[in-house]
Amino acid sequence: MKRIRVAAAIAVALGLGAGCASKKETGEARQVTKQAYGKTADGRDIQLYTLTNKNGMTVAIMNYGGIITSIKTPDRSGKLDDIVLGFDSVDGYLQTHPYFGALIGRYGNRIAKATFTLNGTVYKLAANDGANHLHGGIKGFDKVLWDARESADASSQRLELKYVSKDGEEGYPGTLSTTVVYTLTDENDLRIDYSATTDKDTVLNLTNHSYFNLAGQGQGDILSHEMMIAADRFTPIDAGLIPTGELKPVEGTPFDFRKPTAIGAHIDDDDEQLVRGKGYDHNFVLNRSGSDLELAARVSEPKSGRVLEVLTTQPGIQFYTGNFLDGTLTGKGGKVYEQRYGFCLETQHFPDSPNQPKFPSTVLKPGEQYRTTTLYRFPKAQ
Ligand code: GLA
Repeated sequence: MKRIRVAAAIAVALGLGAGCASKKETGEARQVTKQAYGKTADGRDIQLYTLTNKNGMTVAIMNYGGIITSIKTPDRSGKLDDIVLGFDSVDGYLQTHPYFGALIGRYGNRIAKATFTLNGTVYKLAANDGANHLHGGIKGFDKVLWDARESADASSQRLELKYVSKDGEEGYPGTLSTTVVYTLTDENDLRIDYSATTDKDTVLNLTNHSYFNLAGQGQGDILSHEMMIAADRFTPIDAGLIPTGELKPVEGTPFDFRKPTAIGAHIDDDDEQLVRGKGYDHNFVLNRSGSDLELAARVSEPKSGRVLEVLTTQPGIQFYTGNFLDGTLTGKGGKVYEQRYGFCLETQHFPDSPNQPKFPSTVLKPGEQYRTTTLYRFPKAQ
């Protein structure tokens, strides 16, 4: 196991000798560790990186799929629990699973009929959700091995992941060079910076697919979590979960989370949209005032007191309530994941944007920099 002791890293940054006593006092808990975590089906090494901040909060991430395998945060009594769904070892992740913790690309969410037209050319993508394309296709960014580099400075631990997707991969045009940086700060923020460039016009929509349960993973369903989503509108879906193109006001619907509301308060209402999604599986149109990081969602869990805030530069967020979990997957610590045992808040551009001229554009051109940031912030438990 390789460790970067942050005290030493600070000392290096300041031009001091490693082991400087005063620095050790300030940063003993902080570290980045790296451990061998198994092999891909084609025999390549998978590593697990664990970032620890000064408060003892930890985030573990694999270079396979850029998957967040665990996030441990304190409850109101200070007890650390793992609050994301996943598996105890790499084997679970190498099988088919619903994108637990994974980086999603090239295109998060659905593209109708796995087809889009760009500059007059029709592109056929891999169809992996009936006739539609979902989360990047058959072998999306959740199933590739990323090049990883860990680092640390005075107040944060980082993992930088890079992947070059070939022209034509899963049907997408252009060679895409992608970088994702996970940063854990001493403020208990898990920051994710996504960037990319292309050599041909293409479309792109990167996100992360972590499933949260703030009571602790495997500790029942998430229906009593209180959810706030800063969105006056959402994008209703058809029977194939593809947006109809409408931006519908949430007012007077079960989609009104502008004030904190228990996730379970209306989830089983007799509402066509909820029936189609089997619960919430919808993109919310965030109320944005500019292009900086803005609060998109805030979730609190009454028993543990844990709070999660999501800040993003993105225009949308997919609120998914784990409706397809059905008790067939056994996760960490032998916990069986039943329906609605986790929720996802996937920051994104709207689903099917390449086929929806009225939605914000997801086109990336040569010479442009794709750049988005999302923060999963864990304020002190209440
Ligand atoms: C998403 C989709 C859901 C489902 C899950 C994975 O977030 O919106 O419909 O496909 O991923 O199971």
